[in-house]
Amino acid sequence: GRPADLAGRRLVISAGGTREAIDPVRFIGNRSSGLQGYALARTAVARGAEVVLVAANVALPDPAGVTVVRVESAVELRAAVLEAMEGADAVVMAAAVADFRPSAQSGSKIKKTSAEPEPIHLVKNPDILAELGDRRREGLKPYPSVIVGFAAETDDVLANGRAKLARKGCDLLVVNQVGDNLAFGTPDNAAVVLAADGEQVEIPRGPKEDLADAVWDLVARRLP
Ligand code: C5P
Repeated sequence: GRPADLAGRRLVISAGGTREAIDPVRFIGNRSSGLQGYALARTAVARGAEVVLVAANVALPDPAGVTVVRVESAVELRAAVLEAMEGADAVVMAAAVADFRPSAQSGSKIKKTSAEPEPIHLVKNPDILAELGDRRREGLKPYPSVIVGFAAETDDVLANGRAKLARKGCDLLVVNQVGDNLAFGTPDNAAVVLAADGEQVEIPRGPKEDLADAVWDLVARRLP
């Protein structure tokens, strides 16, 4: 069985992938299924935690014993995470959040015309993970004691991961090597978890539950 080392802890987990609306029927999205975030939620509950799961466009049933808040866009996800963060011990940002969104959303469906299509202008989305790190650095309450980010990298996985960990000010960064039938939409995952204190744990290819439990092992040791 699992240890009850998260008993009484309040955790916020984001999962899935954001959709950034172009018009009422179209969006810019990504291939995140939410499977890893849901595995984190299930395993955390099994270890005794109270979990708020902020789910962006996930086609999975609500896990038992978890409070699920459904969102669509990065702006909505940010608001839901900040609200759930009140009194939370740790935040795990497993969601794939769009870096950009269309600067304007057409109120009606964009028509196909004989003219050349209009370009879609993009603006930056808030970086929620970096914002959590900033809040903590500035002592701006509420902020979580432990902050965990995810990163999908295709090359220079460790160097890029270390740089991202520092840039985002998180405690743990779970770095996935994408491609090779891993990560997006698959039941298996493999990763290296980098810690701000220098620890580095390699998690071999296996079920997303195994990666989730390895993350909770590292989180539990860092909770005050
Ligand atoms: O910079 P990159 O998108 O690779 O970082 C990934 C991590 O940052 C994930 O934990 C993701 O949830 C988080 N993120 C975020 N807000 C964004 C983009 C990414 O919180 N706008």
